[in-house]
Amino acid sequence: MLNIIIFGAPGSGKGTQSEKLTERYNLTHISTGEVLRDKIERQTELGILADTYMSKGQLVPDNLVIDMLSEFIANNSESKGYILDGFPRTLPQGEAMDKILEEQNESINVVLWLDVDDDELIARLLKRGKDSGREDDTFDTIKSRLAVYYRKTEPLKDFYSKQGKLAQIDGTGTVDEIFSRIEEVVDNLNY
Ligand code: AP5
Repeated sequence: MLNIIIFGAPGSGKGTQSEKLTERYNLTHISTGEVLRDKIERQTELGILADTYMSKGQLVPDNLVIDMLSEFIANNSESKGYILDGFPRTLPQGEAMDKILEEQNESINVVLWLDVDDDELIARLLKRGKDSGREDDTFDTIKSRLAVYYRKTEPLKDFYSKQGKLAQIDGTGTVDEIFSRIEEVVDNLNY
């Protein structure tokens, strides 16, 4: 299996590059943000609860997203590999992810960190907010999503760097330029 974490700040291009990775390597993509937005739209119990966090740019509690992820992996065990987009986002989520995969004799192969500076992130998200109206793409919520990223998610870089799995990718340029950089890393993996 080829298991990839696509990692980066809000607006770094995780969703955009995940789509290309899914197609190129025939993997199964999960975006925890997408799954949660779908639950909000359907007004499920978890969706209603998640909305109270997401609308403020805060993280949904670990136990809820870890359960969601475990269920997804259990339902997709025939997959050739996973692209994890937006998960893990905290150290406890990273540790839980390792355990879940270990139970299947699997592990993460690489963590692709899309490195983009804050000004570019904010510009991308404000543009999307104007074009498509995603509710959390307003200036104040973007600020709080970024602050949460630096406080709670960025420590995972050290976690994966110690495991020798972190690959820093310049996340600026065109979508295709960035994808070529990703391909170069993934094509050189032994899996
Ligand atoms: P999530 O949906 O994961 O949002 P996010 O991390 O804020 O990321 P985005 O979707 O905004 O950006 P992205 O990096 O995917 O970039 P994209 O390709 O879309 O999470 C939303 C919320 O859900 C969280 O705040 C949290 O509350 C909750 N949540 C989710 N997972 C959780 C977890 N594990 N634990 C707890 N809570 C969780 O691109 C962004 C924009 O830029 C697009 O408009 C795109 O067209 C554009 N773009 C992309 N690439 C380029 C480029 N190269 N040049 C110019 N523009 C570009």
